[in-house]
Amino acid sequence: MDYRQFARAQIAHIRRTIGQGRAVSALSGGVDSAVTTVLGHKALGNRLKVFFIDDGLMRQGEPETVKRTFAKLGIRVTIIHAAKTFFAALKGLTDPEEKRKAFRDTFYKVFGKMVRQSGAHFLLQGTIAADIVETKKGVKTQHNVLDQIGISAKRGYGFVTIEPLKTLYKPDVRRVGRVLGLPKSIYTRMPFPGPGLSCRVLGEVTPERVEVVRRACKIVEEETEKFKRFQAFGVLLADRATGVTKNGRRLFGDIVAVRCVDSENAITAAPTRLTWPVFERIQQRIVKEVPSVTKVVYDLTPKPPSTIEYI
Ligand code: XMP
Repeated sequence: MDYRQFARAQIAHIRRTIGQGRAVSALSGGVDSAVTTVLGHKALGNRLKVFFIDDGLMRQGEPETVKRTFAKLGIRVTIIHAAKTFFAALKGLTDPEEKRKAFRDTFYKVFGKMVRQSGAHFLLQGTIAADIVETKKGVKTQHNVLDQIGISAKRGYGFVTIEPLKTLYKPDVRRVGRVLGLPKSIYTRMPFPGPGLSCRVLGEVTPERVEVVRRACKIVEEETEKFKRFQAFGVLLADRATGVTKNGRRLFGDIVAVRCVDSENAITAAPTRLTWPVFERIQQRIVKEVPSVTKVVYDLTPKPPSTIEYI
């Protein structure tokens, strides 16, 4: 595949579709939306408005990092503070698909408002082939798949979506990012799901529970950095386990599962063969830095039968 040619064709397609109009891009900080945003910026310049929704479900320090990185590329990012809206929508929900649908609905409602206010009629988004395949198969409702499963973005939320990467899988998206001149730290970045840390909290998604998993994810990412893994993160289970504190008190605490997988395109995955010292360090850091945790386990299951995320 000629990645430069692909990028040129997509830029031309975006220009043709939007004409003299405006578009909005939904940047999440992940590879897919970053590549899509750069394609859109090259096609439309300042007629593309770039929003980053801070939904309260992001990795640590993410909004600031994204803003800084894109400023260096000459792209201005507006951050929308919407954590309260997302937590309100997720309140009381424990069923995985209900949580996903509540996230998706909130995401597009917030975006629909932004699109309308900016006078745009188009939303550029970084949907890739794997998202569509898994949603269509009914494995899980990926947040960014609408028209392919019969939900009209135009009727439902008031805009038309443009998805320049919808025929590509992750390795090709990274290569397009490279030829577009994105920093290596972005095009080699670990995938992060659209619904963010809500995919990694089993049971109810509350700000407190998200904070537990946010810290665990950071530790797992840092401690597995030297492995060529596809994704690495922590998951907060819905159950609890009895532990004992340093001064001998009983603590019925949180359980964190550590997930670290090797994969090419996220359709299949295998657990990474981490070393014992790495496991020990992850465990020691999690129980020390996240005091509500009394148990840390490693997930050995490949995909299939598991999926990579837990919901
Ligand atoms: P699963 O859990 O289905 O995930 O094995 C496959 C890949 O997709 C990511 N993922 C998502 N990405 N929106 C996204 O943009 C979503 O709703 C979503 N759900 C899962 C997941 O992190 C993995 O890389």
